[in-house]
Amino acid sequence: MRKFLTAALTGVLAATMLFAGCGKKEEASDGGKIPEKIVVGTNAEFPPFEFVNDDGDVDGFDMAVMKEVGKRIGSDVEIKNMEFKSLIGSMESGNLDVIAAGMTVTEERERKVDFTDSYYTAKQYVIQKENGDIKKAEDLEGLTIAVQEGTTGDLLATDEIKDSNVKRFKKGVDAVMDLKKGGSDVVIIDSNPAQEFIKANEGLELVKDLFEDEKYAFAVQKDNAKLKDAINDALDEMKDDGTFDKLVKEYIGQ
Ligand code: ARG
Repeated sequence: MRKFLTAALTGVLAATMLFAGCGKKEEASDGGKIPEKIVVGTNAEFPPFEFVNDDGDVDGFDMAVMKEVGKRIGSDVEIKNMEFKSLIGSMESGNLDVIAAGMTVTEERERKVDFTDSYYTAKQYVIQKENGDIKKAEDLEGLTIAVQEGTTGDLLATDEIKDSNVKRFKKGVDAVMDLKKGGSDVVIIDSNPAQEFIKANEGLELVKDLFEDEKYAFAVQKDNAKLKDAINDALDEMKDDGTFDKLVKEYIGQ
């Protein structure tokens, strides 16, 4: 009997939670808090969104946006540079308030963190040696593909390309170096860093239109709706007053 009751209760509870889930947006906006100092996690191996500049500081579009957001919210911003694949875990253990890392919104990640409104659209590009054979996605089948570990490029190469041999590197630039020295056939990486890597290295070319668009957003801890809303408001403001476009021009170009 007791067992049955517990089961029934659990059922009711689950149902209640489900219903509550429907109205989540409004309800949750009381959740969380805006910290006096926002700890922002990134992986500064992803130009022009984040990189280490000549002074040894973490710089880039995401950092500039987050600093401006911090000003508008009235919080200090501290940047923590770490491996890309550690970012979500670090946020789940409460060590980061925000992830600003050119991070693509995926369903899998949405189970672990919340995302702000998207601020940029990108896609995965293929880098190959000049005059290479890759023209369509099927041409990648069976190839050795270099990627940055834990990225959507990694996921794509691992899950979507038949018989791929995926080589995972901590830094995108190391994947590119591996391609250059003949250790892999291609690199799959996000469009903007791909363009930067091509500029910085001779003898490489891009294959651009093989994959779907991806949306970048900042991540916050699950249910820290206060911080998420504040960031979204600041982003809206920055778009309205031209600050956002100014930073796009400064860091990304076009
Ligand atoms: N957009 C890709 C992803 O979310 C790659 C991001 C890599 N970012 C970085 N800072 N290294 O998986």
